[in-house]
Amino acid sequence: MERKNQHYYTQFPDTNLKMHTVSESMRKHLFVFKTVSGVFSFKKIDLGTKILIEHMTIPEEPSVLLDLGCGYGPIGIVLGYISPKSNIYFIDLNRRATWCCKGNVKINFPYSQKRFKILTHNYFDAFKNKNIKFEAIYMNPPMRRGKKEFINLCKEIPKYLKSNGFFQFVIRKKLGAPSIFEALKNINPQNKIEVLFKRSGYWVFNWIFD
Ligand SMILES: C[S@@+](CC[C@H](N)C(=O)[O-])C[C@H]1O[C@@H](n2cnc3c(N)ncnc32)[C@H](O)[C@@H]1O
Repeated sequence: MERKNQHYYTQFPDTNLKMHTVSESMRKHLFVFKTVSGVFSFKKIDLGTKILIEHMTIPEEPSVLLDLGCGYGPIGIVLGYISPKSNIYFIDLNRRATWCCKGNVKINFPYSQKRFKILTHNYFDAFKNKNIKFEAIYMNPPMRRGKKEFINLCKEIPKYLKSNGFFQFVIRKKLGAPSIFEALKNINPQNKIEVLFKRSGYWVFNWIFD
């Protein structure tokens, strides 16, 4: 029997499994994703995700990058395509999401999957006691879990960024983008936070760390 009150961030979804194929052209390349029910935006790429992908800054030099809350993997897979010498980490709590993400890495990079690491974990728990830092972290956060959870997560971000690293994320204006902007200015006043782009009620942020 299915459990009630399941969300896209449920750790072990047991809703009926419906498979989908999503194809989308982003950053001038066509990507294909296998998706399933119980995973965020499984019928089409979310508009906020697309806006972030089109505007995110992608290092040209080999880097270590993180797609935090990866879902079925669109952000990290585009990062891997545009930055072909970078190592890309993906994290999500939802097992169905990371299962799809592993498959999508194979579909989009059939000959080279070693530089992709896909982990099922609660945010940064995967890296506790590990000395890992990223050039950049990218996220379309699960705002349905509340602003407080996102702001607490933001307090952890500096620990996982190299110097001059940055955190880029997208938030919908009506889900609190303006108030989160103000809150983050106060968390690390020495670090610059800016809105890179606004479209259709979505704000793309760039938070740069020294
Ligand atoms: C808004 S969705 C974005 C998914 C994907 N990045 C995309 O753009 O399609 C947020 C994702 O965060 C994941 N998430 C929620 N809480 C999490 C947690 N505590 N740790 C890791 N991932 C989490 C959800 O399962 C979901 O896949």
